[in-house]
Formats: sequence, C-alpha cells, structure tokens
Amino acid sequence: MDLKTKEFIEKKVKEIEDTVGSGSAISALSGGVDSSACTVLAHKALGDRLKVIYIDDGLMRENEDRYVSEAFSEMGIKVEVINARSDFFSALKGITDPEDKRKAFRNKFYEVFGESVLKSEAKYLIQGTIAADIIETKGGVKTQHNILEQIGINPEKGYGFRVIEPLKELFKHQVREVAKSLGLPKELYKRMPFPGPGLSTRIIGEVTEERVRKVRKATQIVEEEIAGLEPFQAFAVLLSDKGTGVKEGKRKFGEIMIIRCVESRDAMTAEATKVPWKILRRISERITEEVPTVTRVAYEITPKPPATIEYI
Ligand code: XMP
Repeated sequence: MDLKTKEFIEKKVKEIEDTVGSGSAISALSGGVDSSACTVLAHKALGDRLKVIYIDDGLMRENEDRYVSEAFSEMGIKVEVINARSDFFSALKGITDPEDKRKAFRNKFYEVFGESVLKSEAKYLIQGTIAADIIETKGGVKTQHNILEQIGINPEKGYGFRVIEPLKELFKHQVREVAKSLGLPKELYKRMPFPGPGLSTRIIGEVTEERVRKVRKATQIVEEEIAGLEPFQAFAVLLSDKGTGVKEGKRKFGEIMIIRCVESRDAMTAEATKVPWKILRRISERITEEVPTVTRVAYEITPKPPATIEYI
C-alpha cells in the first residue's frame, strides 16, 4: 500500500465518526505503537466520547502503567487503568501450551473489556490490529490474541461490543509514519513492538508471578544495554530447561535465559542482530547477577523463518 499519511488519517477519522455516530467508544490501549496511534486517531474523531482503557494484566514491562498514563496525559488524553493482574494470573494458571496461553489471554482480555463496555454507554471497541496480525493468524502461524472476526468469533455476541480496527491495512513501518504524523512523541512512535500477551510470550512453561518478575527484570536489562543499537525488537526469554553454573563457590542447577534481538521491517521476516560481543557479555553478567536463579544466558541467532520472533 502506498501510504499517503495525511489522507489516510483524514479518511480514518471520518470513518470512525460515521461508524460511532453520536455514541461513544472504548479504546484498548497497551502503550505499543499500534494501540497508541489508534487511540490518538480515535480521540481526534471522538474527543471526550472516547474512553481510553489500559488493562494492567501483570504481564507488562516495568512501570508501564505509569509511563503510558503520563505520555497520554501530556497529549491531553486521560487513561483509565484497570488492575486485573490476579484475573490474568488465574486464567493462565497451569497452562504450558503456547496457543492455549494466547487463547486464555485473549478470553480474559475481552472479558475484562466486555465488562468495561457494559458499564459504559459504548458499543464499540477500537483496537490497533495491523496487517501482519491478520495475515499470520489467517495463515495459521499463530492465534494472535487480538484477532476475533477473522477466526469466526463474533465479538458482539461473545462480548457485547463491535470492533473497529482503523490500522488493519497497515504494516508496522506505516503505523510508525501515521503515529509520527499524529504528533505522538518519538519515544512512542519508535518504540519496539511488544506483544499483547506481554511477558507471557517470553516464558516457556507455566506463567507465574515469580517467573514474570524474572523475565521482566531481564527484559529491562536487555532494553537498557541494547538501546543504542535501535533494533526492531530485543528481549529476554525464560526457558523451562536448566543448566549448571557456579554461584558463590557452589554448583547450582539454575535457570536459562535466552536473549533475542532482531532486525525486521514488518515482523513477517527477521534476522538476528549482530550485537557486539561487549554488549552481550555485559547482558549475561547483569542477568546472572540481578536475577540470581539464572546460571546461563544464551544469544539466539535463528532468522524468521524458520523461527518466529517470539518464543511461543
Ligand atoms: P512472531 O513471534 O509471530 O511475532 O514472529 C511477530 C510480531 O508479532 C508480535 N506478537 C504478538 N503481538 N499479540 C500481539 O499483539 C500476540 O499474540 C503476538 N504474538 C507475537 C511479536 O512481538 C512480533 O513483533
């Protein structure tokens, strides 16, 4: 698609105005570039008739709720934060299969939104689905958490709202152009993609609060150390396998973290970044120190395909 950004924005604002009419809508904001651009676009169309909700599912990066609320408040958009952490941890309890995790996450996600929609006058949920999400779900690559109609779920019957997806024809780099043009701060429109089901896609095996805390800390370390390289995506993954190490003079059968850092344009294909040795070494040192149960850190170099970017 040849994206003429300004025309695209005007067209989508008009479409949202026409669809919602004199009613109201809710935007599902995660703080990623897709849902952020979508929220600002819908706010342009609906103003105060747009209610913006950020669900704190306990699977986000460190201090994410505060970061997102402040960034949007500076743009004049109020964000309501719903604490649903324990709901999500209960929904994910005991699940180890990757697609079952995504489905459990999706069901809980829309259930929580459904409750908010029911409590309000809104009939529409605005969400930042993009082209790659739909293509990969339809192609059977994964059950992207935010895809409903395309896999035969009627959101109105199932959850009580209709879905508007203004960005669904765009790929990530085009979304970034739209976000920039909408006046989002650089930190937001250049942000690395972060999957909807959050850190649960970076944990092999069961998702528990303790395991999320470890992978969150490691993610923060990777992001801090790798920031200067501006990769498409970089993060840590906690495996369920173990490996022996030596800590405080004793052998310890500890945990293994994988570091993934990739270059990509549209997330459909990806290549591992040639991260300088010094940075990898520093990441390994910090993770084994700051997440004491980890004894091994490995860098992963498989491109997509045959691998995917995330680990589940
Ligand atoms: P994969 O791992 O399939 O990921 O190569 C491609 C891009 O999609 C993101 N991703 C997701 N995003 N819900 C999301 O919102 C999901 O279920 C999901 N799974 C993967 C991933 O971070 C990458 O940018």
